Amino acid sequence: MGCPVTGTAVEGCPVSHQAAEFDPFGSDYQLDPAEALRWSRNQAPVFYSPKLDYWVISRYNDIKAVFRDNITFSPAIALEKITPVSQEAQDVLRGYDYAMNRTLVNEDEPQHTERRRVLMEHFTPENLEGHKPMVRRLTREALDRIIDQGDADLVNEMLWEIPLTVALHFLGVPEEDMDKLREYSIAHTVNTWGRPSKDEQIKVAHAVGNFWQYAGKVLEKMRASPDGPGWMRYAIRQQASYPEVVTDSYLHSMMMAIIVAAHETTAHASANMFRRLLEQRELWEEVCRKPRLIPNAVEECLRHTGSVVAWRRITTRPATIGDVQLPEGARLLMVTASGNHDERHFENPDELDLYRDNAVDHLTFGYGSHQCMGKNIARMEMRIFLEEFTRRLPHMELVPRQQFTYLPNTSFRGPDHLWVHWDPASNPERRSDQVREPRMDFDIGAPSVKDLARTVRLADKRVLAKDIVGLSLEDPHGRPLPNWTPGAHVELLLDEMGRHYSLCGDPEHPERLELAVLREPASRGGSIYVHERLQVGDEVGLRGPKNHFRLDERAEEYVLIAGGIGITPIIAMADRLKRLGKPYTLHYAGRSRRTMAFLDRLAAEHGDCLHLYPSDEGARLQIDAAIGEPTEGRQIYACGPDRLLEALELATDGWPAGMLHVEHFGAAGALLDPSKEEAFEVVLEDSGLTVQVAPDQTLLEALRAAGIDVASDCEEGLCGTCEVTVTSGEDIDHRDRVLSREERGEGNRMMACCSRARGKISLAL
Ligand code: HEM
Repeated sequence: MGCPVTGTAVEGCPVSHQAAEFDPFGSDYQLDPAEALRWSRNQAPVFYSPKLDYWVISRYNDIKAVFRDNITFSPAIALEKITPVSQEAQDVLRGYDYAMNRTLVNEDEPQHTERRRVLMEHFTPENLEGHKPMVRRLTREALDRIIDQGDADLVNEMLWEIPLTVALHFLGVPEEDMDKLREYSIAHTVNTWGRPSKDEQIKVAHAVGNFWQYAGKVLEKMRASPDGPGWMRYAIRQQASYPEVVTDSYLHSMMMAIIVAAHETTAHASANMFRRLLEQRELWEEVCRKPRLIPNAVEECLRHTGSVVAWRRITTRPATIGDVQLPEGARLLMVTASGNHDERHFENPDELDLYRDNAVDHLTFGYGSHQCMGKNIARMEMRIFLEEFTRRLPHMELVPRQQFTYLPNTSFRGPDHLWVHWDPASNPERRSDQVREPRMDFDIGAPSVKDLARTVRLADKRVLAKDIVGLSLEDPHGRPLPNWTPGAHVELLLDEMGRHYSLCGDPEHPERLELAVLREPASRGGSIYVHERLQVGDEVGLRGPKNHFRLDERAEEYVLIAGGIGITPIIAMADRLKRLGKPYTLHYAGRSRRTMAFLDRLAAEHGDCLHLYPSDEGARLQIDAAIGEPTEGRQIYACGPDRLLEALELATDGWPAGMLHVEHFGAAGALLDPSKEEAFEVVLEDSGLTVQVAPDQTLLEALRAAGIDVASDCEEGLCGTCEVTVTSGEDIDHRDRVLSREERGEGNRMMACCSRARGKISLAL
């Protein structure tokens, strides 16, 4: 095989030693594909593998870029046999009239989108609600069978059977011949992504041939009663209306492909999830204590140890990924497991973090117009499994020292067996029958970041100024709290109310978070709760930290401006700048010294640069004097009441972009008012969909209803989590408090939770 880059055989070939050695059937990749490609993420994110004759892609952004462009990077080879099939095996398959054709997953445009549109209905969140009771029942029955046993191989007891039963039920296929189907789909995996020997190829070919015939027979039976339930009969009925879109060959191929797509993926993902959580006992216990975390725990397990670890594309024309040029016809192996561990996208990617708020960005379901249609079925099953087990068997443990084995292949990954044990005498339901009842039901769809609150304890509460109290929060178990940077805020969940507060302590001491809370005369209840009810020793929920008011440390000099309680993020910035040795001035305005927090600390730490403006002493902040001229290298950071920030915006009008950074206290107040809103149309370029946003709907709601996962948090335009990229359309009605004037002017992003458009727009989603 010649070098595909230089065309030469050996000399001058730029394939590195590691690229030459890369073997997706070798033990490193089989044990941990993300780890096996760490070197590639760091040194050669796109490389040619001579052993595989594929280009391997390992970084998150590169993989996403490939998924995004399904014209240049065709999915046509997604189900191609990665190991060439021997003539004998082909003959065996021919004997079964095997004629597997394109199914959605490996189909090019425009046929793919036409079919997906025609067949999507059954996958929408409303339709999937109807499958929940069955998943719950099957899981409960499986648990009832094993609960007094004390040990079980979860894979054999339920993790294969339930996803298969659910898949068959979804398709409307009779739930029989389950063992046979399990054997067939393993054969299909080996056939598509494995490296079978010549003898194995013959065996596998017989199983795949039988699977093909089985699928054909079931289909024939269904044609006789097309009005029955299930997605396959729905597809048969759609054939009558769209015969050229839903063809006979398509139905037969789809029948076989979807059985594998729906159950093997979910079975593996569930086994991986139980293994990972039980291996890190404190995480398992956290989920037992806080079932609200389950949706995100599932998502994070899909990211950390997904069941689909690599997917394929082929270039239809010469293309560039990163700085590597690929010829037309280049076969690509995107190692999604590696992308999911890319530190360029995920903080501490190797850690399984139940509170990760962008876990949903993982690539395990693919991305773009082919993204997994069944993702919400899989999520639903995995959430119910976890809810039932953490409630009924919280004391379950992994059997120690078991050897996990995997079916060697490039793409589907999950242990063949997963042995767990527990003491039946400690089963909580022996003490209370109530334990048998579900504690939580979960909405269909992506997890809500709203559920990601960790518990913190109030360690100290003290008066900082009139109507301002300082709070110190710590982890109840003495663990360090997450890292944060100046400008960051957290959300405290107080009696079901979420309130945002900037952090004002020392980021170098992560064992405590410090906040200052003003008693607001027009409080919605949050600040009154803090002042009057919250006591030292109380535990509250905390989300974040998040930072949308980030200090750019590269500037040469800084002007910091605080009005009232706006001093909280500003003091953290001043501390940081002092530590960095950067020149800064700090301007702090308030009603009177009695109402201004931190005066002693400010005088001691920042006395030389501090300017105070207590208005009862007649001192007034002169904005023009404070900010000076628009000198290159100067940055202004301000937090305070709206009138102060508006005055600053005005004073800096016409200054070069990016010099002023502000943080507001609250939402803009321009949230949804259905009586005044106009509908608008949104084209989703990556997914090939067009979505209508009705007057009584936010863009975020409309996207979710269409099955698009968009992370969100405050949903008030304050936090920036739901930012989406706008690719065309000019008239955006920004209603958030995150984007600066310049950023709005660029017109290439918006917050889906609150901002709207006055005409058609296109998004990169
Ligand atoms: C496509 C993964 C469960 C049905 C895909 C793709 C991946 C994937 C990687 C290709 C995406 C792309 O090319 O961008 C998974 C994983 C699952 C899962 C990890 C479980 C944890 C399911 C279930 C069903 C299903 C339960 C159905 C009941 C499909 C279909 C497609 C697909 C129909 C083709 C979509 C298209 O090409 O338009 N899945 N899947 N999957 N999946 Fe899943």
